[in-house]
Amino acid sequence: MKIIRDTQRNCARMAAEEYRKLLNENPHCVLGLATGSTPEMLYEELVALCKAGKLSFKDVTTYNLDEYVGLDGSHPQSYRYFMDSHLFNLVDIDKTRTHVPCGIGVTDEMAAHYDDEIKQAGGVDLQLLGIGHDGHIGFNEPHDAFDLGTHCVDLAQETIEANKRFFDGNEDLVPKQAYTMGIKTIMQARKVLMVANGKGKADIVKKAFFGPVTPEVPASILQMHPDFILVGDEEALSEI
Ligand code: PGA
Repeated sequence: MKIIRDTQRNCARMAAEEYRKLLNENPHCVLGLATGSTPEMLYEELVALCKAGKLSFKDVTTYNLDEYVGLDGSHPQSYRYFMDSHLFNLVDIDKTRTHVPCGIGVTDEMAAHYDDEIKQAGGVDLQLLGIGHDGHIGFNEPHDAFDLGTHCVDLAQETIEANKRFFDGNEDLVPKQAYTMGIKTIMQARKVLMVANGKGKADIVKKAFFGPVTPEVPASILQMHPDFILVGDEEALSEI
């Protein structure tokens, strides 16, 4: 595990540099992408690098971590909408090669097919992650089994509360379930990059990376990943 500590902006720049290197070395790479407030600054940096001609997404394939059950891509709080507006519509990516789990009309079998698609594309080269206050990665909540692929989850109450800020502060509007890549899917990525910002993440970052590896803290499994980088600001890393 490699840990990098700097300001939020410098963290985003360093993370963007990982992408610049990867995309220049392997223009056909497969990216695992994330949503939420954490990656917003990184996506800004990637858009700027792309506009400056320093990297291109032209031949890249992407797979997002998760999507709310019941929201389709035109819903402003869907993760497809987030990705389109924060990255895909602003760079030179071929949108037919961007994948976000479908939130509507999906059976468990169809959800699991996402893992087959990722495999067929060659596997994820670089998986981006944030971390939930309860230690979730993607939407793998505490106590979810480590050996699951993409599946449907019930969101933890803590997650619903944390995410209501995106739904006019109204908990009732937050979907209660999501499709998420499983921990197994995430651990199969060749490299994993987690970004963590803010005081609110300090306790869970300490628990996840300096405590026992346990399904109670899903992110703790990343201690076992052979190529894992944690990039965090002073506040998020203040307890370690
Ligand atoms: P956040 O969410 O980036 O909005 O804090 C992180 C997560 O839930 O994975």
